Amino acid sequence: ARRWKHTSSRPPLNSVTADDVAHFAKILPQNAILSTLPPSDLHASDIDQYNNDWMGKYHGNSTTVLRPQNTKQVSDIMKWCHERRIGVVPQGGNTGLVGGSVPILDELIINLGNMSKVRSFDPVSGALVADAGCILESLSEHIAPHNHIMPLDLGAKGSCQIGGNVATNAGGLRLLRYGSLHGTVLGLEVVLPDGTVLDNLTTIRKDNTGYDLKQLFIGAEGTLGIITGVSILTPPAPQASTNVILALPRFENVLPVFKTARLHLSEILSAFEFIDREAYDLAVKHGQGKALNEQDVEGAECFVLLETSGGKKEHDEEKLTGLLETLLEADEPLILTGVLSQSPTQFASMWRLREGITESVSKEGKAYKYDISIPLAAFKEVVDLTREHLRKQGLLHEEAVKQVIGYGHVGDGNLHLNVIAAAYTSEIQAALEPFVYELVASYNGSISAEHGLGAMKAHAIHYSKTGVAVDMMKKIKELFDPRGIMNPGKVLEF
Ligand code: FAD
Ligand code: MLT
Ligand code: ZN
Repeated sequence: ARRWKHTSSRPPLNSVTADDVAHFAKILPQNAILSTLPPSDLHASDIDQYNNDWMGKYHGNSTTVLRPQNTKQVSDIMKWCHERRIGVVPQGGNTGLVGGSVPILDELIINLGNMSKVRSFDPVSGALVADAGCILESLSEHIAPHNHIMPLDLGAKGSCQIGGNVATNAGGLRLLRYGSLHGTVLGLEVVLPDGTVLDNLTTIRKDNTGYDLKQLFIGAEGTLGIITGVSILTPPAPQASTNVILALPRFENVLPVFKTARLHLSEILSAFEFIDREAYDLAVKHGQGKALNEQDVEGAECFVLLETSGGKKEHDEEKLTGLLETLLEADEPLILTGVLSQSPTQFASMWRLREGITESVSKEGKAYKYDISIPLAAFKEVVDLTREHLRKQGLLHEEAVKQVIGYGHVGDGNLHLNVIAAAYTSEIQAALEPFVYELVASYNGSISAEHGLGAMKAHAIHYSKTGVAVDMMKKIKELFDPRGIMNPGKVLEF
């Protein structure tokens, strides 16, 4: 059996026992404990959904899942785990794409799904304070009547939790407009590995009193503590939003189109998303959104989904129409066609084409997902080089790698390079890594733009961070979690 490594400085972690479960029963109601340990009659399959990740790529062997309802319960559980040296995996909606949300071995899973209350909302400042287990979409619905929106949006909004979003520093589709969670999160409540509650759940905007500790937990992927409450600044809802899909004859036109769009639309540009031809065809194949007219997109090498959010519909549409005219009028038009959404249904359907790619990829096969920051001009090159590399290895065929596609957030310089395979195999894995990481490093890019390192890339952190930076991170980890129980093996190797 696999075991945690025993290093001289740190004894190995312990598995959960029936005695531990009996102790948890003093902290939590029975229906908040799912355990396959005797005397329970639950089977491993009853907790499958917690042990396996969204892609079906990462599998844990935990025997026990706890679903606390409040911060005090989380704190009492952590005190016990600290004392007993039990490894713990904090879990939100389990939509993470790097294997961070499931155990590597048999760590205890603490799922935050039962902590789903909104604590307060200030309709004037827009400050929202919520339990970490609130689903992102339900928070959007909660503040919609007050004409506010969440500063982030992503395809997993119906399942992911705000605590998971903060823990991964999720980027998503609105980052271009509202910035990252490092700017919008006002405060956090965190249970530290020894059970201490760090209450930093402020709603004030300015607070320069020493180190800004909350920033450490944003993007820490549950390796420093369990986020139990989030205070976040929500912007007023734009009065008018419109989107348009542009079909481009060549990839080389993406950058000039982006530049022209920024010039014409300035402050109302709220998203600029890239979809290559194969990704577009795949989304269409799997029924995501409504395809554009086939003749119009004949010969299109890639697509852009552009959104505007502004104060006045007529004014925004006028600007968008002006942009489309410019893009079509040049001697050599930069786009083949541009389709402007005409109704809320069409608006949603156009977004579906982009947001639905992730789901289409999973329907098509097993995904190797690389979420990278590289110069915009290299988006196509990286996809092509990866495809070519796999071809040379004899792996580009239906039984091995079916497709290599690219899509992502042009506005943020973030490409999603997805390799879709018939199955996860060690041969494909060996062909892709470190190939992709070395390629990214050659552009001085980042091997994780927004999904995190999780279990997938903990060993590869040095491709994007210097030795000095990694050493500092290890010291921070040691300070917060000297026993190494918080999400072991994620972000930093155990
Ligand atoms: P989980 O998957 O449960 O956990 C993710 C990580 O956070 C794990 O390491 C876990 O241990 C930790 N964690 C979770 N909750 C807590 C907590 N309360 N305290 C401490 N640690 C915690 N990501 C993007 O950045 N941008 C996108 O556009 C995007 N789109 C997606 C679309 C789809 C269809 C899918 C399936 C995923 C997408 N993702 C995206 C990835 C994923 O949804 C995000 O990373 C999301 O923020 C994870 O939230 P979650 O609640 O599901 O967290
Ligand atoms: C996206 O932008 O669609 C998400 O990050 C998910 C993915 O990479 O598939
Ligand atoms: Zn993304």
